[in-house]
This record gives sequence, C-alpha cells and structure tokens, in this order.
Amino acid sequence: DGKVFTYDPGFTSTAACESQITYIDGDEGVLLYRGYPIDQLAEKSSFLEVCYLLANGELPNEGEFKRFEKDITYHTMLHAQFDRFFDGFRRDAHPMAIMVGTVGALAAFYHDSTDINDRKQRTIASHRLIAKMPTIAARAFKYSIGQPFVSPRNELDYASNFLRQCFAVPAEDYKINPVMARALDVFMILHADHEQNASTSTVRLAGSSGANPFACISSGIACLWGPAHGGANEAALNMLEEIGTVDNIPEFIRRVKDPNDDIRLMGFGHRVYKNYDPRATAMQKLCHMVLKEVGAEDNPTLKVAMELEKIALNDEYFVSRKLYPNIDFYSGITLRAMGFPTSMFTVLFAVARTVGWIAQWTEMMEDDSQKIGRPRQVYTGPTLRAYVPVGQRK
Ligand code: SDX
Repeated sequence: DGKVFTYDPGFTSTAACESQITYIDGDEGVLLYRGYPIDQLAEKSSFLEVCYLLANGELPNEGEFKRFEKDITYHTMLHAQFDRFFDGFRRDAHPMAIMVGTVGALAAFYHDSTDINDRKQRTIASHRLIAKMPTIAARAFKYSIGQPFVSPRNELDYASNFLRQCFAVPAEDYKINPVMARALDVFMILHADHEQNASTSTVRLAGSSGANPFACISSGIACLWGPAHGGANEAALNMLEEIGTVDNIPEFIRRVKDPNDDIRLMGFGHRVYKNYDPRATAMQKLCHMVLKEVGAEDNPTLKVAMELEKIALNDEYFVSRKLYPNIDFYSGITLRAMGFPTSMFTVLFAVARTVGWIAQWTEMMEDDSQKIGRPRQVYTGPTLRAYVPVGQRK
C-alpha cells in the first residue's frame, strides 16, 4: 500500500568489547601483552611463557611454569584415530584447508573439555589446543609433501618439538638448530595475540553462542586464512618474488598507485597501526638473524623488501595514507629461509594465534554478563511493498 517506513536506527554507539589481555596504540605503534611491551617479550621471554601470561594475566614463577610446561608437553600427542582424517584430503590440499577441517573435529575426541560452563574443562580445552596445534600443523605439512608423520618428543621444548615434527625424516637423525628454534619461538610470540582483529572477533562471536572451544578456534582459522588478514604473509612473499629485482620496484609502485589497477602493497598498512607495527621491527631483526644462519644475507628477495620499504616510507601515497610495514612484510622471507613452503605460513600464524584466540574466548566465557553476539546492521534495502503475482509482473 506504499506506506513508507521512516528509518530510525535507534542506536548511536556500536558495542565495544572490554578486554584486559592486549593493548594496542596504533598511532604510537605500541603493543602490550598484559602490560608487557612486545619487544621485551620477544627479546627475553619464550612462547610458552607468553602463553601462560596471556592465559593467566601474570608471568609464571618457576614452579608455575614447570607445571604449565609439563601439562602442555604431555598433551602434544593426538588420539591415534585422528590421523585417519588426513587420508580423506587430496595430497595437494592447502594445509590451511586441512587445519580448518580437522581442528573443529577435536571436539569429537575430547568430550571432557567441551562443556563451556565448566571452568576446569575450559582450562583443559585451552591446554589441549595449545599443545596439539603444532602436532596437527606438522601433520598437515607432512601430508602435503607425502612424508610420514613424526610424533612429538617430551624432552624437547615447544618450538624444537614443532620444528622436528615438520622437518625430521625416519631416514636420519634430526639435529635441532637452536637458532631456528629460537626464531620460531620469537615468531610465535609476535603472532600470539592482537586485540580484537578479524579472526579473534570471529572466535568471540562463535563462542558467544556457547559453541565448543574447538569449533570456535576452527572458525578463527577460517577467518585468518584470508589474504587481507593472516594470508598476507604468503601474499607478501609472492609479491616480493613477483617483483623479482630492485629495478622492477618503480613500475610496481606505479601500479599500486594506479586507481584502475587493483593491487596492494602486501605486508603494508593496518586497520589499527597508523604508525610502524612494532612487530615488524622485531620481525625484520629475526629475518636478518635467520638469513645470516643460512648464509643468505644477500638474499635477493630481502634486498627487494628493504628497497621497497625505503621507497614506500618516503612516498607521499603511502605516507599520506599512513601505510607502514606490518608484521607480514618480513615474516614470509623469514619462514622461507627456515625451510617452510609458503602454504605453511598462515598455518604457523594460526598455531601462534591459537593462544590469543583461546585466551580471549576464556575471558569472554568468564564474563557472566556475556550475551550471544549480534553485530549491528544499518538496513538500506527496499521499504514495505506488497507481493505481485508472476502474471502481473513487468
Ligand atoms: C594482519 O587486525 C589485526 O590486528 C590484523 C593483524 C593481526 O595480528 O591479527 O595485525 C594481522 O592482518 C596484518 C595486515 C595484513 N594485511 C596486509 O598486509 C594486506 C595489505 N594491507 C591492506 O589490505 C590494508 O592495509 C588492511 C586491510 C590491512 C587495512 O586496511 P584499512 O586500514 O581498512 O585501509 P583501507 O583498506 O580502508 O585503505 C585506506 C587507503 C585506501 O586508499 P584510498 O581508497 O584512500 O585511495 O589506503 C590504501 C587503500 O587503497 N591502502 C593500500 C594498502 N592498504 C591500504 N594501498 C596499497 N597497499 C596497501 N597495502
């Protein structure tokens, strides 16, 4: 009857989420985990100690850390039947597809840690996820390259255990390289949490419905896979290798600026940092450390990255849009030098971010006022109208 609704959104503020875990000041380039600056943690802490900090709010004393480390170490194995999942994937499946497909299924094996109302079960689920993610990730990698799975070893630290499961082969003894183990540990510290980014918000939204923690983490992995988010490390390295040499940079920059050419400088820009991403500084240091270890300080891709960064940081287009390198700009070169294929880059990001996701999920679960999430909408569709039978339509 043509009656027109006057649209009244009826709300002014969008709901912000309260958290005590991570603080970012995007203008100042500050990142704190429970109040500790990321550069100090990257330099002095370990990933497992950061896991304890994010989950419990305080750094552990020696006894607390030993108990935590033992609990994680003794839960790194997977149920024997879990391995049969992998046979269902094509050999050329992207490891992130395998991660999305298998992590949610942990709920089918560990019923004693899916009751979200039981604090003890929530803690068991958190520790199981932190413990088992490297084992699942390493299996996804081994499956994609047709090599036999390698079981975790309890005498190894977290990063060394992960590296060994990825790179050891039955044909010879595997020697842990302490520089690579430390590099992986710092990589995971830098990626552990990042406030309410897209994938963390996905985990919180899924968790607000009461879904089990394994399914919630699987939803976070799915969101992280996108090239604008966790997939940027793979996209950034592909971009640097596509540019190839320093001589090709000016043409590439021209194309990025061309409004008709929809390409972006991957590894640059951020939803929050409108200054240097403090993690990018630490990642650049890590990159140099790893390239030195493998004798590739003159790596051509690193040369392109450093020249590209220098040009972009002095170019009006990027400066006016406050586009600075983010954590993904140097992480791809670093991971490639550590021996990982690009298909594993976002998987490694997901393994590290699991502790942030599960800490944020736990924080939400412990908030009794928490209701099911429902992001606001502004309706811009047609106003009220009557149905027209098909014979009378134009
Ligand atoms: C991560 O949120 C998190 O915390 C994420 C993360 C985490 O730890 O969880 O930090 C991890 O996701 C890091 C970001 C990784 N993504 C990339 O590196 C992909 C490339 N970057 C962009 O696509 C982009 O910068 C975003 C998505 C990261 C942020 O985008 P914004 O802040 O929403 O900016 P925008 O898309 O609105 O762009 C603003 C302007 C636009 O130009 P104009 O329309 O004004 O002319 O800046 C331009 C954009 O075209 N722009 C870029 C650019 N990023 C933005 N131009 C070229 N290259 C880029 N990288």
